Amino acid sequence: MMTRFPLPFPGCTGKAGGMTPLGFVGLGAMGGRIAGRLLATGHQVHGTNRTQAKAAALITNGLIWDDTPREVAQASAVVFSMVTDDAALEAIASGADGILAGLAPGTFWVDMSTVSPATSAALAERARALGAAMLDAPVSGSVHEAEGGKLAIMAGGRADAFAAVEPLLRELGPVVRHVGANGQGLRLKLAVNISLAAQMLAFSEGVLLAERGGIDRALAVEVMAQSSIGSPFLRGRAPLVLELPDEAWFDIELARKDIRLALATAQQDDVRLPSAALADKWLTTATSLGYGHRDVASLHAILAQTGATLTAAEKHPSGPIGRAA
Ligand SMILES: NC(=O)c1ccc[n+]([C@@H]2O[C@H](COP(=O)([O-])OP(=O)(O)OC[C@H]3O[C@@H](n4cnc5c(N)ncnc54)[C@H](OP(=O)(O)O)[C@@H]3O)[C@@H](O)[C@H]2O)c1
Repeated sequence: MMTRFPLPFPGCTGKAGGMTPLGFVGLGAMGGRIAGRLLATGHQVHGTNRTQAKAAALITNGLIWDDTPREVAQASAVVFSMVTDDAALEAIASGADGILAGLAPGTFWVDMSTVSPATSAALAERARALGAAMLDAPVSGSVHEAEGGKLAIMAGGRADAFAAVEPLLRELGPVVRHVGANGQGLRLKLAVNISLAAQMLAFSEGVLLAERGGIDRALAVEVMAQSSIGSPFLRGRAPLVLELPDEAWFDIELARKDIRLALATAQQDDVRLPSAALADKWLTTATSLGYGHRDVASLHAILAQTGATLTAAEKHPSGPIGRAA
C-alpha cells in the first residue's frame, strides 16, 4: 500500500524530530489535553473543534487551526479524534467535511472516543475502503492522566496499523496494548468502566453509612480511600466527594453512556451485568436530579438526597443476617 509519510514516522520521537504532521479532532476536556500533550512533546498538530473558542489556549501554544475535520485529516499522517458519543463521532466522520473525506491512502485515524464497538468497526471498514487504517484506542484515566501522559490505552484494529502508531500512543501513556480487531479496544474499555461506576456507587454509599452514624465525612473518605478498597481510581476521586469540582473530570452523563454501551453489548452476547444495571439506575436518577454535567463523584450527593425515599427492599435485607446454616 502507498504511504504518504515514511514509516516509522520521524515525529514519533517527539522533540527529536517532530515533523510528522498530526491532527486532532475534538478538543474537549480529554481531547484538548491530549492534543496539548502532543504539542508539548514537540509535534506539529493540526486541530479542530465544533466550538472554536475551546481551542484558544491550544492555538496560543502552537496548534494549527483548521476549520473542518476533513482539512485536519488532509493535513495529517495520523489524525486522532476524541468526541462524546456515537452521534458526535458520526458527525465528525461523515459528510463533505468529515474525517473520512480527508483520509488519504496510507494514513491512519486513531479514534479515542468511548463509543459503541460496532459503530467504530463500521467506520474502520469505511476507512479501509479508502486505503487508510482506523484504530479504536479508548483510554482509561481522566484529565490529569491525559495532561501528564499517564493514560492506559487499549487499541483495536490491524496489527500493522497499531505498530505504526504505537510510538505515538506511548507518548500519551505507559500502558498501551493491542487488544484485537476493530472494536475490541472499545469492548475492553467498556469492561473497565463498569467497575468505575460501580466502585463510585459503592464508595459513596459506604461514606454515607459512616457519616450518618456520626463519623466525620472527611475522616471516612480518607480512611476508606487508604484501605484495601482504595483503587487508583478511588484514591484519585475520593477528594471530590468532599468538594465537587465546578468542571467535571468525568461527568455523570458520560459514565451513564458507557454503562449503557456495556449493557447493550452484553445483551447481544447474553452476559449478565448486575452491577452495571444498578449503576445505570443511579446514574439515571442523578441525571434526572440535574447532575448530568457534574462529576461522577456526585453520586454521594445523590444518595444523600434520596435517602428518604428508600424502597422497602432497600430498607431491609431480604433474609436473616448471618451465615446460612
Ligand atoms: N473525561 C474523562 O475522564 C474521560 C476519560 C476517559 C474517556 N473519556 C471519553 O472521552 C470522550 C470525550 O470526553 P470528554 O470528557 O473530553 O468530553 P467533553 O469535554 O464533553 O468533550 C466532548 C467533545 O466532543 C465534541 N462533540 C460533542 N458532540 C459533537 C457533535 N455533535 N459534533 C462535533 N463535535 C462534538 C465536543 O465539541 P464542543 O467542544 O463543541 O462541545 C468536544 O470536543 C467521551 O467518549 C468520554 O466517554 C472521558
